[in-house]
Amino acid sequence: MKNKVLEALYGKKGDYVPIDDLVSELEIPKTSIEKHIESLINEGYTIESSQDSQFRLKEDLTLILPHKLQSELNTNYIGKEIHYFRQVDSTNEVAKKLAQNGAPEGTVVIAESQSRGRGRRGKTWVSPLGGAWMSIVLRPDTLPINAPQLTFTAGVAAAKTIKDEYGLDVGIKWPNDILIENKKVCGILTEISTGDNTIDYIVVGIGIDANIDLDLIPPEFRDTATSLKNELNEDISRMILVQKFLDNFEKTYDEFNKGNFNNILNKWRRCSKTIGSKVEVKTGTKFIKGEAVGVTREGALILELEDGSLKKIISGECRHV
Ligand code: BTN
Repeated sequence: MKNKVLEALYGKKGDYVPIDDLVSELEIPKTSIEKHIESLINEGYTIESSQDSQFRLKEDLTLILPHKLQSELNTNYIGKEIHYFRQVDSTNEVAKKLAQNGAPEGTVVIAESQSRGRGRRGKTWVSPLGGAWMSIVLRPDTLPINAPQLTFTAGVAAAKTIKDEYGLDVGIKWPNDILIENKKVCGILTEISTGDNTIDYIVVGIGIDANIDLDLIPPEFRDTATSLKNELNEDISRMILVQKFLDNFEKTYDEFNKGNFNNILNKWRRCSKTIGSKVEVKTGTKFIKGEAVGVTREGALILELEDGSLKKIISGECRHV
């Protein structure tokens, strides 16, 4: 119903709407309308009210507006349910709670900013206003061992979106960093909850540094990170970015569900900046150096070591040297 209130205001294109009109259009009492308007304001919408109980929605083009995003989506199930927040601790945390409470596959959580954004390997993910921070709930019918394939699936969709929409030269660094000219613009954090060798749910979290000024990025990452705004010298529409990403993600995930992971992996390999590069991978406290020569279907990196032997690395932090 809250979305119906939003749509009713949205349909009036910024004009004031008397509350009595909303009552007759939506057939709910005034008090419910006031409650929904209050919660929309808490979500970040700017809704102005007049003395005589008229309301108008002021569109803030700098925000991702979920009702508008939803109306532009070309998906069948990804983003049919969107939970939008001005600020949360972490969209992955919110998505995990929703998934535990039965949220359907394709539920999306988006936040304008995160107070405790999380990266891989327990790192903090700095998430100020201007980024695209979102998580998707998935319930794939596959074994837990295949979960890393979903990270590849999301990586391929993110790389395609950034390349197609902005014409940027995008690459992927194993396992899941999307790069522009060797600088990271997007990261992916996949979290899984398993049952008895089954997947209960997976949350794929995607963070894209969209309209982020580089001075908001912590100094230690400034040499290795970039943003779309920094590359393009202008702000982009984050709504279009998220919409295109969700469209691309659904198409790629459908391929995964049809058993075509090989196609996805081939696309990943074509985008990969890691394969063919000399790398150093940190696993636990060890550093392993070698040339990256491939990835396995399970997502492990294959390194050729200096003595010519091959080593499979399941997880680690990779640096191109
Ligand atoms: C990484 O490269 O280390 C992964 C970064 C993932 C960041 C995203 S932002 C949306 C979602 N919520 C989080 O707390 N993390 C992921």
